[in-house]
Amino acid sequence: MVPLKRRKVVPSRVGSTGTEPNKFPQVILFLLERKMGASRRAFLSQLGRKKGFQVEELFSESVTHVISENNCGAEVRTWLDSQLRGGTPAHLLDISWYTESMKAGHPVEILDRHKLQTSEAEVVVFSVPSYACQRRTTLENHNAVLTDALALLAENAELSEEEGRGVAFRRAAAVLKALPRPVTSMTELRGLPCLGDHSLRVIKDILENGASSEAESTKQSERYKALKVLTGIFGVGAKTADRWIREGILGLQQLQESGQTLNRAQQAGLEHYDDLNQPVTKADADVISEIVERAVVSVLPGAQMTLIGGFRRGKLSGHDVDFLITHPEEGREVGLMPKVVSWLESQGFLLYQKTTRNSYLESKDGPGRPSSNMDRFERCFSIFKLTEKERRRTKHPETATENGLRTVSTPEPDPHTGHKLWRAVRVDLVVSPISQFAFALLGWTGSKLFERELRRWAGHERNMSLSSHALYDNKQRIYLRATSEEEIFAHLGLEFIPPSERNT
Ligand code: UTP
Ligand code: MN
Repeated sequence: MVPLKRRKVVPSRVGSTGTEPNKFPQVILFLLERKMGASRRAFLSQLGRKKGFQVEELFSESVTHVISENNCGAEVRTWLDSQLRGGTPAHLLDISWYTESMKAGHPVEILDRHKLQTSEAEVVVFSVPSYACQRRTTLENHNAVLTDALALLAENAELSEEEGRGVAFRRAAAVLKALPRPVTSMTELRGLPCLGDHSLRVIKDILENGASSEAESTKQSERYKALKVLTGIFGVGAKTADRWIREGILGLQQLQESGQTLNRAQQAGLEHYDDLNQPVTKADADVISEIVERAVVSVLPGAQMTLIGGFRRGKLSGHDVDFLITHPEEGREVGLMPKVVSWLESQGFLLYQKTTRNSYLESKDGPGRPSSNMDRFERCFSIFKLTEKERRRTKHPETATENGLRTVSTPEPDPHTGHKLWRAVRVDLVVSPISQFAFALLGWTGSKLFERELRRWAGHERNMSLSSHALYDNKQRIYLRATSEEEIFAHLGLEFIPPSERNT
């Protein structure tokens, strides 16, 4: 793995088991794992140490020789730029210098053929670590035109149940979102991770022609349009939409005329179609927060509620509002959800709700599968009825929250609901026991790609399994407990990334 950031000078390996004392104090080596792979790097490092070379595990300013395999100079330089500010090691060398030195038993003379070629033209401007959970991604996106096209292709792949392709486009878009300024040429992208051939073609098309022909034709295609309209119905996923399309149903009217049997969620989804396809504003999310807070403290004083999902990341709009509810005393949260739901129902706030029970049992379920996105908390999928009256009520100074964060002043009638004095909003409630709270909070704050990357990092780089319930160390065979997100990042060996920088 590539070190995350500039590291302090680390102690040399001199004298540790199986190594000779450092015979060549002027030479401090570092082997780049990139393209070499972790096991070959470990093998070669050990070999060097046995022969009396100082081979560093971590990169630092004291390194004099950087050795890489199958990398061009520009790639190594990009990597170095991400590690250092100013000053680079004296030598950027190919593996051939290292193997020849091993054979000779001393550092051989550096010849031209050992040196990595770096020309000015080759210098790569951008550099980002390869896992999205190693990066800070704010809402500021300097490459929206590129990422919108890639996101559209990702969405189309997901709607067509081609998950792998979807993830590849999402990862590519996430890399571009993390860049500090707009991309202007393809050469700037050299050395960046996660940009596959297909994504590069899309980017090239946009840079050269102003738009991606593939994204444009996808957007115009009947199938994509139908998939969008049909999955826009709450309760309708890609599978159902695909079946309907194959039966000739391409829109809402055709669906209604077809006499398809709809489940309760889909009926509600259809009934509130326009509202639910209208973004939810932060101001409305705050109003709903207040209502849910009232519900929670009424039914169980001491219970706590946290806004999660996109709004916790600082987004100004979202497709729904997500809340996590817990109680500081383990076990007190049991039975809380039905009470909260009853309270909300009795006050007329729910247009629809479906609650699933908590089915997670650590002793029974074991560590969550790293690829699994679904968790098993007690969860309520609901459709809220948000009235003008509530909007006004919570915007009233007396009822404003203590922290004074409410920013909206006078309520404007919603332009999309016309004279209607309320709108429907999708709201998700999740209840977690306090012992799992930090994992639930991390798992439900998103973004989806950030979560996926955290789990991939845990599995591939740390041999751990992360879920919204727990973190399990597969090697030590123990659960790693945590009471805060910070502790989970620390367990994973990652720098803490705050919610506002998880907008991958
Ligand atoms: P959302 O789908 O609500 O996304 O999931 P969002 O980031 O809030 O963005 P909006 O709502 O489209 O604006 C929020 C988080 O909850 C997790 C997702 O992985 C995401 O990180 N989640 C969602 C689960 O863990 N399990 C689920 O079943 C659904
Ligand atoms: Mn959400």
